[in-house]
Amino acid sequence: MEFQDKVVLITGAGSGIGRAAALMYAKEGGQVVVSDINPKGGEETVKMITEAGGKATFIAANVAKLEEVEQLVNQVAEQFGRLDIAVNNAGIGDFNQKKTADHPVDSWDRVIAVNQTGVFYCMKQELQQMMKQKNGSIVNISSIAGLRGLPNNLAYVASKHAVVGMTKTAAMEYAKHGIRINAVCPVFTLTNLFKPEYFGDKAEKLREGIPMKRYGTADEIAEAIIWLSTDKASFVTGHIMSVDGGKTA
Ligand SMILES: NC(=O)c1ccc[n+]([C@@H]2O[C@H](COP(=O)([O-])OP(=O)(O)OC[C@H]3O[C@@H](n4cnc5c(N)ncnc54)[C@H](O)[C@@H]3O)[C@@H](O)[C@H]2O)c1
Repeated sequence: MEFQDKVVLITGAGSGIGRAAALMYAKEGGQVVVSDINPKGGEETVKMITEAGGKATFIAANVAKLEEVEQLVNQVAEQFGRLDIAVNNAGIGDFNQKKTADHPVDSWDRVIAVNQTGVFYCMKQELQQMMKQKNGSIVNISSIAGLRGLPNNLAYVASKHAVVGMTKTAAMEYAKHGIRINAVCPVFTLTNLFKPEYFGDKAEKLREGIPMKRYGTADEIAEAIIWLSTDKASFVTGHIMSVDGGKTA
């Protein structure tokens, strides 16, 4: 099995893409640490894994709080002795705001705190542990909004561009230490974060704008996350992988 005895930490694993990835790692023998701000979702993911015969445990953490992320990674290290793979997936949308001049400051602060600062805090703590091992793989979840603009969504776009920049920078810093860091950029994917109805009349235009003429599924995004963290991707670092039905082509 691909991830036998590997310790895998996934943030935001109580729903959507994070849950899909957690199930796949567990199916391949990984010891999965499901983390989320929402204990109900997190515990549900653990139940799904253990009922299918996999290994998982839940640790609650808000990625926007450094002390909680520090505690999370310390607990993983104490309980399992190492951290092989980290998927920094926790994120929020705050879609359909106003244009830049009128973009609400509270929305900006909220989105940047989770999507951008949260990824920084997670990498900061995870890399300290991975440096002790001189080994590890990190996959950050950005978005096609990390590669192009999306009008009326300034904070989300800024946060996801930041994830791309942080991924490239950290990848260069840690390449010689045996640690690979990559990012996945999904297009609109059917989860709690993206439901077509959130976009009202514009939803059909969003779908039509994807060359494959459909939204992604959480499993399709998880497959890319999984591959980037396997040894099959041993020479891949600093890569920003679009999984988008051709949208950014
Ligand atoms: N669904 C899409 O269309 C889409 C497209 C591009 C990128 N993404 C990105 O994929 C990632 C996963 O999103 P999803 O679509 O699965 O959404 P989702 O809402 O289904 O899952 C996100 C999870 O993150 C958790 N979370 C939120 N804030 C948190 C915090 N502060 N600390 C810890 N956990 C927190 C939520 O409780 C939830 O379980 C996000 O980073 C999102 O921006 C999603």
